[in-house]
Amino acid sequence: MDVASLPWVPVAGCRAPTVWREHDGIGVLDQTLLPYERATRHLSSVDQVAEAIGVMRVRGAPLIGATAAYGVAIAMTVDAGDAALDAAVVLLGGTRPTAVNLHWALERMAGRLRPLPAADRPAVAWAEAEAIADDDAALCAAIGRHGVPVLRRLAEQRGGPVRVLTHCNAGWLATCGIGTALAPVFTAVADGVPVEVVVSETRPRNQGLLTAWELREAGVPHTLVADNAAGFLLATGAVDVVITGADRIAANGDAANKVGTYLKALAAHAAGVPFHVAAPSSTLDLACPDGAAIPIEDRGQDEVCTVRGLDATGRVAEVRLAPAGTRTANPAFDVTPAHLVSGYITERGVLGAAALADVFGRSGR
Ligand code: MRU
Repeated sequence: MDVASLPWVPVAGCRAPTVWREHDGIGVLDQTLLPYERATRHLSSVDQVAEAIGVMRVRGAPLIGATAAYGVAIAMTVDAGDAALDAAVVLLGGTRPTAVNLHWALERMAGRLRPLPAADRPAVAWAEAEAIADDDAALCAAIGRHGVPVLRRLAEQRGGPVRVLTHCNAGWLATCGIGTALAPVFTAVADGVPVEVVVSETRPRNQGLLTAWELREAGVPHTLVADNAAGFLLATGAVDVVITGADRIAANGDAANKVGTYLKALAAHAAGVPFHVAAPSSTLDLACPDGAAIPIEDRGQDEVCTVRGLDATGRVAEVRLAPAGTRTANPAFDVTPAHLVSGYITERGVLGAAALADVFGRSGR
């Protein structure tokens, strides 16, 4: 991967340069350095893959699923036995609990590999990981296509650009394709629909900066706002629709996403603004009855106490915000109840909560 060619211009159906196979492992775009520095990292052991997911060099629900699948392939290249397969699944599955795409991808890998003789596993594992990544690019493209009418209708009603509020980063950086929440944006813009995006900063990790970076490089008009501004903007008519991604959608439609999403859903509901969740079926967990059963990741206090940016000399630096010893809480996700969600933009169309289990349960993913 030629990092000088970044950023990638989102093209529906194409693979994003977020994870790719290299000679004896994989390459990833290191998102801990963005938007300040563009650097890739070579990962050649399952431990390195687990570290990259855990510290969020790769992040976003679909992307961590695909990356974990490649991690299994790396493990199988070293040792294709049953014990090594089980150990890789346990190690990678323990990195991040909330995004179900991670666990879905590991189950898909294990289900494909377990019945095979060990000698066949490495080649099949690489092929299956590639298929998971390719499938994700196709799912993102379909989400984009289904989201366009939602944005076009609102732009026509308004007689001007549709103003989309999003939270966290659910663009190409979070997937193997053009993103989930940003897929309708990129696709609508390509179709000539005028769109402006209001980007919520997303403390504590500030993934909104990644979203702003993607949008700037793609030439999509956008405005970065502090998380706390969202309620005011929704209440005063400055936003036409909210679209977020999701890390796990329970069978009843309750949706876990980056912490702060729930507050936006509440404010959107109070203001009568539609709130959409854009996600592929790999984010749907039909075994999980409702939001209360979704495990919420606690990422520890450092993320709340510090912030990363450029110092006066232009170097990436981390500064401490809260004095050492300050007690913090850092739930990384929250759950938006289904009754606050206007529609789920999926690869099979825009669905209501009641249709999710029906559409994806009956025919499978
Ligand atoms: O902690 P992160 O940055 O991995 O969380 C990402 C999000 O919450 C995204 O909104 C979600 O994964 C959907 S990504 C297409």
